[in-house]
Amino acid sequence: MKIVIASDHGGFDLKEIIKDSLIKKGYNVVDLGTNSIESVDYPDYGCKAAQMVASKEADKGIVVCGTGIGISISANKVKGIRCALCSDVYSAKMARAHNDSNMLALGGRVVGRDLALEIVNAWLTGEFEGGRHERRVNKMMKIEEL
Ligand code: RB5
Repeated sequence: MKIVIASDHGGFDLKEIIKDSLIKKGYNVVDLGTNSIESVDYPDYGCKAAQMVASKEADKGIVVCGTGIGISISANKVKGIRCALCSDVYSAKMARAHNDSNMLALGGRVVGRDLALEIVNAWLTGEFEGGRHERRVNKMMKIEEL
């Protein structure tokens, strides 16, 4: 599975931790930066990662900023993206099972290292349940056409 990962400065440390963990697990990781704690703008990174997922150049995307809020909103502006901001494992599971999210957002200043890695693992291994949830996901995506 090819995973694109990106962050702003507020998410840089956690992005590096997640990247190392995913590489160790054998995932193909594409890191779009940022590459330091120097201040940058999260929309630039959220958009680039989302475009890779929307165009199917990557299977899934993980984005991190200080809270996860700005970078998730930015990613969700790209057509075809369902980016779920998660701070707990249950939400991460549901974001796959019920919402078929194709991107995960985390707050580097919100969740600690171990919890973040549990959230990432739950989200990456979670399967979409389909059925009634497929109808709802399709309805969500139709909102893009309004
Ligand atoms: C940057 O200071 C901070 O605003 C950003 O990382 C993020 O939390 C925005 O939503």
